Order: sequence, then structure tokens, then C-alpha cells
Amino acid sequence: MRFTIAIDGPAAAGKGTLSKAIADRLGFAYLDTGLLYRAVGAKTLQGVAAIEAAQVLVADDLDGDALRSPDVAQAASKVAVLPEVRAALVDFQRAFARRAGGAVLDGRDIGTVICPNAEVKLFVTASADVRARRRFLELSDKGLVTSFEDVLADVRARDDRDMNRAEAPLKPAKDAVILDTSTLDIPGALRVALDAIEQQMPTS
Ligand code: DC
Repeated sequence: MRFTIAIDGPAAAGKGTLSKAIADRLGFAYLDTGLLYRAVGAKTLQGVAAIEAAQVLVADDLDGDALRSPDVAQAASKVAVLPEVRAALVDFQRAFARRAGGAVLDGRDIGTVICPNAEVKLFVTASADVRARRRFLELSDKGLVTSFEDVLADVRARDDRDMNRAEAPLKPAKDAVILDTSTLDIPGALRVALDAIEQQMPTS
């Protein structure tokens, strides 16, 4: 079965947690497309040109943990503005989306640009304050952060850049189901998401 679930939304809205839970529940493969941009961003921090880094990226080698820092997140958001970087990453994401057995992809432009024909599109969001609070707790657990204000400023700067770029800006697809997680816990959000997915699933 080929069945693509596209999950977009701003930083720290809960996309990753939700996407993993959905993929686990359905036995689908999961791709966190933010890691592709983070890998390119990390290379630029080491002095490699962004476009070159995107062209030679070996997606199988992505080391999630090393790419989770706030510095890498900002670098990712900056390289993500470049059309050439985005273009270099398109084929890998589309091939992943159409693999047999079903796929969940999360990012910023999955429902709008990468998989406009995805069977299900979700736009997962939450207020900037709630998202920054979640990210602050996550980062302080790892000993990676200085203050809540820094995290909030970080989230706002990324929102602004990701939503206002010319190429593939962050926005809900016209046919996306909007899922605001500000007042939902994980099981609550998962229930809403699975309901939307089940409505599109072929019945055998
Ligand atoms: O999902 P994330 O926070 O790991 O993403 C890091 C940055 O990468 C994000 O701020 C913008 C960029 N990105 C993008 O432009 N398009 C995607 N599909 C995924 C991420």
C-alpha cells in the first residue's frame, strides 16, 4: 500500500512526537525532514557551503542527537531559505513518501510542495509561548539551554523566517486538518490525528 501522511507545522509544535506515534501505530516509515535541513545547517557551521552540503547529503547517516542544538536549528532555518538547497533535497523526500508500506513525513512544506497529493495532511500548531515552554523543558533536560526567553526568541525568529521566505514558506495546505496542540496532551492529539487518518484509509 502507498499511503502518505504529511505533517507540517512550526518549530516545537509536537510534530515529531505525533508523527512517531502515528508511524508506530500504523507500521509506517517515518522521516523527520527537519533533520535534512539540520544536517546541511550543521555543515555550514563547519564552513562548508550550504548548496554543496545539500548535494552530497547522505540521509542514511543522519545523527539526530548531534543535530538537536539551538545553533543547528537556526542554521537549518537559514539554509532552508535557499532554493538550491531545497531543490537538492526534494527527490529523496518524494521517494521516501511513496515507499511501499506507507510513510509519515514531517516538516514545513510536505503538504504544500513535497507531497501535494498526500492522502492525509495535518497542520500541527500551538501558541509560540506553549511551544517555547515545551522546547525549553526538552533542552534543559539535555543541559543545552540558558533561559526560557532565549528559547522563545529562538522559536519566534525561526517562525518568522520559515513563514516569510519566498520558497516553500511554512503554511497549511488548503486541504490540511489543523490540529492546535496548545491545550491537548499527546494522547488527545493522537486521537484527533488518527480519526482524520482513518477517514482516508482504504477499507479492505
Ligand atoms: O523541524 P525542525 O525544527 O527540525 O526544522 C529545522 C529547520 O529546518 C526549520 O526551522 C526550517 C527548516 N525546514 C524546512 O524548511 N522544511 C522542512 N520540510 C523541514 C525543516
